[in-house]
Amino acid sequence: MSFDRSVKIAPSILSADFADFGREIAAVEAQGADWIHVDVMDGHFVPNLTFGPPLVKAIRKHVTTVMDVHLMIAPVDPYIAAFADAGADILTAHLEAGPHTHRTLQAIRAAGCKAGLALNPGTPVEAVIPLLDMVDLVCLMTVNPGFGGQKFIHSQVAQTAKLRAMIGNRPIHIEIDGGVTPETAPLVVAAGADVLVAGSAVFKGGSVTNPAPYGENMMAIRAAI
Ligand code: DX5
Ligand code: ZN
Repeated sequence: MSFDRSVKIAPSILSADFADFGREIAAVEAQGADWIHVDVMDGHFVPNLTFGPPLVKAIRKHVTTVMDVHLMIAPVDPYIAAFADAGADILTAHLEAGPHTHRTLQAIRAAGCKAGLALNPGTPVEAVIPLLDMVDLVCLMTVNPGFGGQKFIHSQVAQTAKLRAMIGNRPIHIEIDGGVTPETAPLVVAAGADVLVAGSAVFKGGSVTNPAPYGENMMAIRAAI
């Protein structure tokens, strides 16, 4: 994975057909997805449950781009090895998931993955300052994590700009997750984001047998930025 700051769209399979992830991933990649975003939820850190390492491992062979795994789980550390073994390229943990974020980021890199750090909307972005040399990606949540299809929280645009200034020339991606649409994407890109996670805005209107809307939806986001 080489680093660049071009804008990338990362469809979240949270909005795909859960019984058909392999074909959904192939369809959305064929339609132009840059990364595949995989939302892991534990029913404890967030009020929703999705899936664990065996499912991530099973879908890995269908991902030809970058598998971006967003861990909304607490604790995180006991599961890092399993998700790395499942083939995650990027493993993102939440700052709010436990008291030992520094250790968690070290463990993610030691397991051979790029290290991501996600921040909930209520967390000041300055909290990442001491960790900037330990992360490859910062994910700013623009909804409260747990569900797809929620409304974008506009106060995170100013946090994005602050984070962009803090990062300087470091090779760190700024990822935006939640409520990304053709209306909100330009705001965060102008503020410095380069990875746009989008679930409902990409998958709406399409299916594995009618994938063209996936491409049109991503084109609409790209055209807006
Ligand atoms: C929310 C997840 C997101 C979600 C985004 O907790 O982390 O990745 O799938 O969904 P949309 O794009 O529909 O807001
Ligand atoms: Zn996510």
